[in-house]
Amino acid sequence: MQTHLRGRDLITLQEWTKEEIETALDVALDLKRSRALGQPHAILRDKVLAMLFFFSSTRTRASFEAGMAQLGGHAQFIESRTTQIAHGDTAKEIGEILGRYNDGIAIRHVDWGAGNKYIREVAQASRVPVLNMQCDIYHPFQALADLLTIIEKKGDPRGKTITVSWAYAASYQKPISVPQSLILLMPRFGMNVRLVHPPGFQLMPEIVAQAKDNARRAKVGFEIMDDFAAGIRGTDVVYAKSWGALLTVKSDEEGAQLSSKYKDWIADERRMAMAGEDAIYMHPLPADRNIEVTDAVIDGPQSVVYDEAENRLHGQKAVMALTMS
Ligand code: CP
Repeated sequence: MQTHLRGRDLITLQEWTKEEIETALDVALDLKRSRALGQPHAILRDKVLAMLFFFSSTRTRASFEAGMAQLGGHAQFIESRTTQIAHGDTAKEIGEILGRYNDGIAIRHVDWGAGNKYIREVAQASRVPVLNMQCDIYHPFQALADLLTIIEKKGDPRGKTITVSWAYAASYQKPISVPQSLILLMPRFGMNVRLVHPPGFQLMPEIVAQAKDNARRAKVGFEIMDDFAAGIRGTDVVYAKSWGALLTVKSDEEGAQLSSKYKDWIADERRMAMAGEDAIYMHPLPADRNIEVTDAVIDGPQSVVYDEAENRLHGQKAVMALTMS
């Protein structure tokens, strides 16, 4: 266990050691147990978290806000459009000023090519920890909750296989931050990774290179495949979700056109059967029901999506308690 996380940013788990992540998992389970037992755990009494959103959210906002209240503190919700950011407040000013009012700054900014840069600029200027609630490159708190869920459902992750697959969605070109965070993190905890997507939906080459390096160091497998069925066959974890062709196309329309060639990439019962009855189905939500995944799968016995969503709360409380206390 590492005990020196006070004051640390969490922008990507790639910047935390395995031991530090294990500490967060350990504390998350402790806080989860305390909540189940109704035991108060006001570790962050009188502390305040600023939550700055440039993009919509259900789970992230609700779980950070509930988590701060359960830890005895407060979370202030700040929607970027209601601020003076559009009128000139710079990232440096946000870091300097919100850092003086608060004990932590959490930011969601998923704009492609802008989000991570913005969060890093705020962090540079902030005197308090900056937490990435999802950017264009990473979604660390989702990946942390996913790892916790896999450990709870499947036991020791070492030697297990996770299939991180693209799936079709009609709603919008979703960020690539979830699959990128998963392929980076899971090999470090001993999981074999199958990254599966049709042509045009590749992830950032530098992230894939880091993920391969993580897998090499952990002596686990890392495969990139373009056959959905082959990618799912015999796997332990089916993590099938949509993402945009952000590295290939120039516009949402072009992205939608390319995606529509692969409408049959849906997580359905036939495909889950290929994985095997012990395999679990995961999705960070929201999902495009009956487009990306069938009701039968997402509401079925192999789906762990609600426990996965719950673990957002426990993982985030752990990181806030460790970095902001
Ligand atoms: N999984 C996730 O981040 O959900 P929200 O977009 O609703 O926060």
